[in-house]
Amino acid sequence: MASEIRITPSILNADHAHLDLEIAKVAAVSDLIHLDIMDNLFVPNKSWDFSEAQKIIAACPLPIDAHLMVNDVDRIGLEYAHAGAASVTIHIEASQKPSTTLQGIRKIGARAGLALKPGTEIEGYSDLLSDVDMLLIMTVEPGFGGQKFMAQMMDKVRRAKKLIGDRPIWLQVDGGISLETIAIAREAGADTFVAGSAVFNAPEPAVMVETLRHAAGDL
Ligand code: DX5
Ligand code: ZN
Repeated sequence: MASEIRITPSILNADHAHLDLEIAKVAAVSDLIHLDIMDNLFVPNKSWDFSEAQKIIAACPLPIDAHLMVNDVDRIGLEYAHAGAASVTIHIEASQKPSTTLQGIRKIGARAGLALKPGTEIEGYSDLLSDVDMLLIMTVEPGFGGQKFMAQMMDKVRRAKKLIGDRPIWLQVDGGISLETIAIAREAGADTFVAGSAVFNAPEPAVMVETLRHAAGDL
């Protein structure tokens, strides 16, 4: 049976000059690779532009989990689905027409994800859940890797889990996931875990992915 838990290493703080080697370190033990796209407008940081991202998506041996931290997300979301990302996550705070964009992403053939910043509550958006394959509850302010896990988000994760009910929607957390925090997020109901610095700062990233998976309760 397929695992209920997914570990998606974020390559944001991996070695950008040798991404193929960095991804190869974790490819055998990870479920997806998390690709953080930042435009220096929605968040105060910039990562890869679209042409660079297209190359990463095309070369990656694992499905790509694209997390779009960009203002123009209703247009860019569809571009990432066309580029072959397996999952495309848009921020509710940036989207003018979330339902249309999420449906468009699905129609192209990608999974549709909806992300909430720490200050955004889930309750107003429950009617969007029918357009969503993954809900992302940010556990840091988006923009940078290596920040401290916000344990106060666990209440939101619990409420999101309740709203999801028995729908097959993945519940993702992103930010500060480590051996110290992953079990806390799992206990609150998360099943899909982004881990950046915990994985790529570890001496053996693949061992860390497996140790994180184990710490989340997957045997
Ligand atoms: C932050 C990004 C995260 C980041 C996570 O805005 O969305 O995906 O890479 O990095 P860590 O795991 O180091 O908090
Ligand atoms: Zn992310």
